[in-house]
Amino acid sequence: MPASSRPKVFVARILPEDGLRPVVEACDARVWEGELPPSRDELLAAVEGCDGVLALLTDRVDDEFLDRAGPQLKVVSNFAVGFDNIDVPACTRRGIPVGNTPGVLTETTADLAWALLMAAARRVAEGDRYVRAGRWRTWGPMLLLGPDVHGSTLGLVGFGRIGQALARRAMGFGMTILYHDVRRAEAAIETAYGATYVPLETLLARSDYVSLHVNLTSETRHLMNAERLRIMNPSAVLVNTSRGPVVDQRALYEALRHGVIFAAALDVTDPEPMASDDPLLTLENCLVVPHIASASRATRGKMAAMAAANLLAGVRGERLPTPVNPEVYELHEGR
Ligand code: DGY
Repeated sequence: MPASSRPKVFVARILPEDGLRPVVEACDARVWEGELPPSRDELLAAVEGCDGVLALLTDRVDDEFLDRAGPQLKVVSNFAVGFDNIDVPACTRRGIPVGNTPGVLTETTADLAWALLMAAARRVAEGDRYVRAGRWRTWGPMLLLGPDVHGSTLGLVGFGRIGQALARRAMGFGMTILYHDVRRAEAAIETAYGATYVPLETLLARSDYVSLHVNLTSETRHLMNAERLRIMNPSAVLVNTSRGPVVDQRALYEALRHGVIFAAALDVTDPEPMASDDPLLTLENCLVVPHIASASRATRGKMAAMAAANLLAGVRGERLPTPVNPEVYELHEGR
């Protein structure tokens, strides 16, 4: 197809080949090659006149973005399962379907949540720092003690795909599983995991490990605030692989510093990246990794393929394989 008749798209970062190749083959594609995301001005300039945009969670898609892109924009495809970077109602109002990448990153994300839980409990990063600092002088009966994981109680805040995948891992460790969600799971799911639905406050009070698996919304912003952290046990560990703002980080700092909870492990922070002088990084009992929960080679390849499939369907005027706003098709029928 001659370049001029091919859909014009912007891809906001270099992606794994499984996603990049089909897009570059089918479209007049501009790919942002920087290691860092485009600045706001660069992003707005890049999307001007595009038929489709493949965005990342670092790119804010709002009315200003949509105005600059122009009325020909047919699709926004997000390279993530989360889509809190996108004003979905604004896209829906304009008849623009938004795609995400559900399912393919579930197990990989749960793997990392599990790794964080284990590492925070058993002080793995702290132990590594201890050895590297030359402080390991002998075997010590009281050295780097932490809570057991096996046989303890896991509280899952959010019991969707990823929460359930963590429950599967916890079952292998003989853990008691509690969960809280806006919607109670079907009885068959509860039975399969031996999971008990409880109010959030009960979950916080009874869990040795609390792992967050909710979307970021106005209801979940600072869900884990000072008051809720105080309900947790002094020996408890908080794990966050959802979105940074779900935790009030100032409150978390105080809670960790004063022994309100034992430890925290964060894959996500507010803001991202976390500043290198953030107070949380001065604490031995806070483990932080740079939003890598879905970062296995295989999973990122699948995410890229899925994001490309959404983008290509959108620019061709076809239904996206995984739209987050399917209502757009009823509201704008015949567009
Ligand atoms: C997502 O997909 O929402 C993760 O945060 C990044 O993979």
